[in-house]
Amino acid sequence: MSPPDARSNPSSGGGLPQPVSGSDPEPWTVEDFMPVILFLRQKIGITLESHRMGLLQARLRARLQQRGFTSFSRFVERVLKVDPSGPGMQLLVDLSTVNHTSFFREPAHFNFLAEQLGQAIREASGAPIRIWSAGCSSGQEPYSLGMILNDSIPNLSPQKVEIWASDLSLEVVRNAARAIYNTREIAGVPPDLLKRYFMRGTGPKEGTFRVIPEVRDLVKFRHLDLRSAQWPLPTDFHAILCRNVSIYFADDERITLLDRLAGSIRTGGWLIMGNGEILPSVPAGVRKILPSIYRKEG
Ligand SMILES: C[S@@+](CC[C@H](N)C(=O)[O-])C[C@H]1O[C@@H](n2cnc3c(N)ncnc32)[C@H](O)[C@@H]1O
Repeated sequence: MSPPDARSNPSSGGGLPQPVSGSDPEPWTVEDFMPVILFLRQKIGITLESHRMGLLQARLRARLQQRGFTSFSRFVERVLKVDPSGPGMQLLVDLSTVNHTSFFREPAHFNFLAEQLGQAIREASGAPIRIWSAGCSSGQEPYSLGMILNDSIPNLSPQKVEIWASDLSLEVVRNAARAIYNTREIAGVPPDLLKRYFMRGTGPKEGTFRVIPEVRDLVKFRHLDLRSAQWPLPTDFHAILCRNVSIYFADDERITLLDRLAGSIRTGGWLIMGNGEILPSVPAGVRKILPSIYRKEG
């Protein structure tokens, strides 16, 4: 994202005062923030609750001030209007998405998949078993899958299992691909898995834990908006996890998403939603087997 025009930035030493127009809102006020809210809603399709909007306002202000911007309106005029799908849009997405996740979150899902897919993986000849973590946040979900499958299947390799993982936020996808976590983030990992599947940082990297290459290599990360018309991904997944993602979608968008996800699962495969997610309707072509677990029918 380009910094604002130096002539209008007092901290740049340009010297000239900022143009003042009678209709310019006060910098950093709710009124000044309004065009950002409209952009989020109309161009990105995100509507935030008021407390999250306040949070976004504070976080965005801090990021913009670091880059020398003096108001939200300048950001809108100089960045969002100039390149509506560029880095300014991505910054908004990164700051407004809720990325809360953890290793082995809702553990029953991982045990279920290890059991159901283990047999398929052992018997598979040729095409790999494909799983998709849709809305993977910073990677704990796909890496948990990689660890649990690696534990139940000897000599697991990317030829046998492909774990696809995608998210709307470029920042979290990049972090996910690095696979480096801190002490707080690895808190839910059972000690024996921590020992076998993470490399401890030493020296300046003390306190960090990196997923080992054997598990990292199973996961293919993609930056992808689930609302986009095309998904450049396979359409024959054995399982898709889309947990705690569609809760931020409007009901009609949610139904469309779930139907499309179901369409990307092979017969007999699984769609797994977050525990406690109440779906507006059961997606086309799947049957509910357990709470939050659906099976694709033939
Ligand atoms: C609360 S996290 C859930 C992460 C993980 N699935 C879990 O259950 O622990 C929701 C994730 O969904 C992503 N997300 C939200 N809207 C999305 C969209 N339209 N397309 C892709 N990912 C999206 C967010 O960026 C965020 O990382």
